[in-house]
Amino acid sequence: MTHIKNVQEVDQFVAPIGTTLDRFITQRQQEFPYAKGELSQLLRDIGLAAKIVNLAIVKSGLSGIEGLYGEQNVHGEDQQKMDVVANVRFIRALTRGEEVCAIVSEEEDGIVDTGHCDAKYIVAMDPLDGSSNIDVNTPIGTIFAIYRRKSEVGTPPTEEDVMQKGQNQVAAGYVMYGASTMLVYTTGHGVNGFTYEYSLGEFILSHPNIKTKPSGNYYACNEGYWNDYSQGVKDYLNYCHDQHYKTRYSGSMVADFHRILLKGGIFMYPSTKKDAQGKLRLLYECNPLSFVMEQAGGKAHNGIQRILEIEPKSLHQRAPLVMGSADMVDKLAEMVQKYAK
Ligand code: AHG
Ligand code: MN
Ligand code: MN
Repeated sequence: MTHIKNVQEVDQFVAPIGTTLDRFITQRQQEFPYAKGELSQLLRDIGLAAKIVNLAIVKSGLSGIEGLYGEQNVHGEDQQKMDVVANVRFIRALTRGEEVCAIVSEEEDGIVDTGHCDAKYIVAMDPLDGSSNIDVNTPIGTIFAIYRRKSEVGTPPTEEDVMQKGQNQVAAGYVMYGASTMLVYTTGHGVNGFTYEYSLGEFILSHPNIKTKPSGNYYACNEGYWNDYSQGVKDYLNYCHDQHYKTRYSGSMVADFHRILLKGGIFMYPSTKKDAQGKLRLLYECNPLSFVMEQAGGKAHNGIQRILEIEPKSLHQRAPLVMGSADMVDKLAEMVQKYAK
């Protein structure tokens, strides 16, 4: 009979399974001395919704939930069936979880009142980011931001609770449904990434304390809009070409962002002649990813101002967005500002 002498010997033939998302969240609760566990529970609810949406995505090619839903959302964009599925799944999980009093979603016109007046958190989310990639089996994601409400606990939530600067976020992150499914989040104490282990049904800590390099050689931008970009943005893109940086742009911000977070580089969705505020929504696309990027040591800007300092004026407001390696974001801001003088 084989005798196993030590743990190292076992690790040679058994993949090590480390910390689960649940355990990590519980351990980290100590970082919030006055927390009573609601935020931890809320993060677990997001983890659960992510697993449910992941299941729907994995099966989508077979179950017929690819394609258009037949309605448009508040932005006048055609909703995909999966946009609607993800929206419903996240709203249900967050409502049943009872830690959230209101939700803002890309797929909902107004705020969703969960009916839990006693809850102190607000969630802003893009339930499914990169919908144009659903039908072609390319990575898509969910983006979420968590805020503490401003109004008194016990009263109905208001729009003011939701209209907060990104710097007030208590936690934010994203789920990427890709070659492997990952959940990456921050509570303002660094960024950690978890990979979904299908057979166990658990997110396992795989990318602890993610740091973004100060510079990189990837850039993500839709150069199809070249003619509509400002001269400053064109100058920066020309600089990228001169440096032989590599273009990586999939149309799923979560996937493009994930590469830049891990490998360094720059992501940008600038203003265009048609859309002075770009396309990406401040509350549930720009703010959460900007918070993650800053926590990883990178930067996030609209060309003039830090994204996290923008005062929101409406639920679905947009903002031009540049984020990534600090030196690259600085360089672009410098080139853009040259023309603003
Ligand atoms: P959504 O699917 O939530 O509407 O977001 C798509 C976003 C973002 O993920 C991506 O970077 C960008 O739209 C792509 O837009 P373009 O096709 O205009 O480049
Ligand atoms: Mn999106
Ligand atoms: Mn979306």
